[in-house]
Amino acid sequence: MSGLTDTHVHLDMREFRQDRAEVLERIKENMDFVVNIGCDVKSSRESVRLAEKYPFVYAAVGIHPSDITGFCYEWEVELEKLCKHPKVVALGEIGLDYHWMTEPAEVQREVFGELLSLAGKVKKPVVIHTRDAMDDTLRVLSDFPETRGIMHCYPGSVAEIPRLKNFYFGIGGVLTFPNSKNLREVVQKTAIERLVLETDCPFLTPAPFRGKRNEPLYTEYVAREIARIKEMSYEDVVRITNENARVVYGIKG
Ligand code: NI
Repeated sequence: MSGLTDTHVHLDMREFRQDRAEVLERIKENMDFVVNIGCDVKSSRESVRLAEKYPFVYAAVGIHPSDITGFCYEWEVELEKLCKHPKVVALGEIGLDYHWMTEPAEVQREVFGELLSLAGKVKKPVVIHTRDAMDDTLRVLSDFPETRGIMHCYPGSVAEIPRLKNFYFGIGGVLTFPNSKNLREVVQKTAIERLVLETDCPFLTPAPFRGKRNEPLYTEYVAREIARIKEMSYEDVVRITNENARVVYGIKG
């Protein structure tokens, strides 16, 4: 199969409480697979539960930088345990968020480092969330040169891409926003072999549905926009981003 993929979903969130079954049915009918991403211990467990129930759902487990308050050894032990599940394909999302700054920057950097070292230990790729913190993200990553994975909702510029040679770039609904000049340039100048599709649903809904809740099927609009920018066929964008998602997450075809 080489259909649409969504490398970053939060189907466990309450925004899907009313119609989760229908959303999952639409994924099953129209897509190849999605990866549900954990933001804390609870949602990481939920991710694994969804992956156990649905063959087309895989899981990532992690602690979002805005959810690290109370971070402790027990959380790490729990994540490590969850990583042993055969459908857990990555550690994420983890990273730095200096926009919300829920915890001070130095605390965020310390936890990020801990989780990167856990990823090395369990030999999993990472899904990185970075907001208003690109320089520090690159600095922390430079201590972990073996790390590979996805820069989720890539907020950086073309200039930083050479420093992220072990990473794929998650492209989502932001690409369809009028003020996405930076991201358009990234898509234009980066090989399609380095891009993966994502929604971050329920957030970041692409045009033409902006303002409504996002869902995995809307990766179609992102893929169409990538095709337009790169002057490729939509089918090739879907096929190659599917391959990329399988390679980074180690999901067999
Ligand atoms: Ni997310």
